[in-house]
Amino acid sequence: MKKTTLHTLHSLKDKGEAFTVLTAYDATFARLLDQCGVDAILVGDSLGMVIQGHNTTVPVAMEDCIYHVECVARATQSALIIADMPYMSYATPEQTFHNAAALMQAGANMVKVEGGEWLMESIEGLVQRGIPVCAHLGLTPQSVDALGGFKVQGRDEEGATKILNDALALEKAGASLLVLECVPAELAQQITTALSIPTIGIGAGSDCDAQVLVLQDMLGLNTQFTPKFVKNFMQQAGGSVQDAIDLYIKEVKERSFPAAEHTFE
Ligand code: KIV
Repeated sequence: MKKTTLHTLHSLKDKGEAFTVLTAYDATFARLLDQCGVDAILVGDSLGMVIQGHNTTVPVAMEDCIYHVECVARATQSALIIADMPYMSYATPEQTFHNAAALMQAGANMVKVEGGEWLMESIEGLVQRGIPVCAHLGLTPQSVDALGGFKVQGRDEEGATKILNDALALEKAGASLLVLECVPAELAQQITTALSIPTIGIGAGSDCDAQVLVLQDMLGLNTQFTPKFVKNFMQQAGGSVQDAIDLYIKEVKERSFPAAEHTFE
């Protein structure tokens, strides 16, 4: 199996072909996603909620992320592995370099950080040191307390302009990918057009260059709460995990997912 690289993902954007990302935290699911042909696996700090049972991602520690990246990396041959940097692990550039290096040594191909323009120095430093970066804007779950809850971002003009300007700044700093979480579809489309790097949407409409979902959510295993942007692919696929992943890949690539019902205005 050929390894997916950032070059592969950038060429897909240039050709207008959507690509797929799903989360995984363990070897069994990582192997399955890899074999199904998911382009990138995100070892998200959503593991704090999905695996550890916390209400937010804030309690997740560096050791937790390292452990789960190691599990996923052992079982992944083709998919690009994106590792989340957990809460406060990138508060200063020095901390960022140290912790990002640990995730790369655990088997990640790039690291993901949440936040806007203030991250430029750290991103520039990581890129200079050979560590690719995925940025994350919109609803940034590590800031849930500052945001006042898990809410759609960028609905008013001021908020939308800030997200667009942050996106341009992060690209300028050297970010190679950008996750857009819970923003109106029109804003996500505007950002996707303005950037040369691929955008990965979650609750950000079908015009993003790629889509990501938390695996357990799209399999319908989260019985507590289903966000509007989640579709239960396992139900539609008749109860097979593999068929659910295949269906997700098909619908993302043909841009029939996300549909209007999974999208914010
Ligand atoms: O932690 C995570 O899984 C994420 C996605 C929801 C984008 O950041």
